[in-house]
Amino acid sequence: AINISKLRESTGFITFDPGFKNTGITKSSISFIDGEKGELLYRGYPIEQIINQCSFIETSYLILNGELPNTAQLKSFSEKIKKFNSIHKEINKILDNIPNSYHPMGILSSLTYILDAFINSLREEDLYLHLLAKLPILAALTYRKKIGVPPTYADPHLDYTSNLLKMFFSIPNQSYELNPIISDALNKILILHADHEQNCSTTTVRLLGSAHAGLFSSISAGMSALWGKLHGGANQAVIEMLEAILKSGGNIKKWIEKAKNKKDPFRLMGFGHRIYKNFDPRAKIAKKVAENVIQQLGISDPILELAKEVERKALQDSYFLEKKLYPNIDFYSGIIYQAIGIPKEMFTVMFALGRLPGWMAHWKEMKSNKDPIGRPRQIYIGYKKRNIKKN
Ligand code: ACO
Repeated sequence: AINISKLRESTGFITFDPGFKNTGITKSSISFIDGEKGELLYRGYPIEQIINQCSFIETSYLILNGELPNTAQLKSFSEKIKKFNSIHKEINKILDNIPNSYHPMGILSSLTYILDAFINSLREEDLYLHLLAKLPILAALTYRKKIGVPPTYADPHLDYTSNLLKMFFSIPNQSYELNPIISDALNKILILHADHEQNCSTTTVRLLGSAHAGLFSSISAGMSALWGKLHGGANQAVIEMLEAILKSGGNIKKWIEKAKNKKDPFRLMGFGHRIYKNFDPRAKIAKKVAENVIQQLGISDPILELAKEVERKALQDSYFLEKKLYPNIDFYSGIIYQAIGIPKEMFTVMFALGRLPGWMAHWKEMKSNKDPIGRPRQIYIGYKKRNIKKN
């Protein structure tokens, strides 16, 4: 227990809040979460409306600029992004020298960091457009290198998500046929990830920005935070967990008991959330998108059926109900990625592509708020002052 009067003597009166569970670090007008109601708004609009009425690029505009674009604004935004739809050839060389065994998130984060060296724009507004244009290229190049397919170029005739799919999946000298079912599913999953107030990676981006670090290094740091298994890395961990359940004979109860056992570090991946204490509205939408895309593509996925059964069984268990642990966005997103052909190792990269507008909007807001440098306090529990005694 903390002795408050001693604490006051040693440090003055400070708030002790590990994990910032109840600390507001800024005023923000980008997204709003009501964790009790299970509600998520982007700039005031419910996620359920955005998902059915907007494209990812419209959503990006909304998140970055505060309002939905009209037709002319959307056209000009998309055209400007296309203008920056290429990367310096030196980036390809750097990618060539990264071992193929390295995780795509490490590659994406490193390349985003170094990208800065090859951008000459001075206008801040252009930097956002450069990142929106170039991140899909870096992601596609990373994927293609992994599978041993030559690099590709962006197609300016396509919309944002179609271009992304073509850059991932086109084979040299073969025509690539876009599947609108897949484009739609990708569009929706990117929208679901576009912003989520002060999550770990977004706060990382703001924190770096508060020290006046540049946009690219701040975003790169956000990616590193996202990679963690308790954050965006959970999407890969969920599928790996579901595959392990299947492989071990499908005994869901056994895995649920394992997650409940405090002596075992295992957690039911894709369950629980710091803010949502009812349900994560994104998980509800992702579940529907997963069901639809699998049905429309005419594939059968035992992992989807297993995931639904895990959800059902967990939500019958008093441990999960009492602790208010519901599926989060990562529980069903991997099933969508797999259905559209994205391999497990690339899941968190897709999350990063979706979260990019949110990270940038927070960086921009942090600057315009003139937020001070982020610098939390601590409670020192180490040695008292002592003298060095060498033998
Ligand atoms: N499985 C089993 N028990 C869990 C789980 C889980 N998935 N999540 C939380 N708990 C338990 C904890 O053991 C703790 O129990 P206790 O009170 O008896 O000690 C209690 O529920 C509260 O958990 P905390 O870790 O204190 O909650 P916190 O808000 O710090 O963490 C987090 C939230 C990290 C999401 C957590 O629920 C978790 O680890 N989930 C699994 C990983 C995951 O799915 N991450 C993705 C989150 S969404 C995103 O970042 C995009």
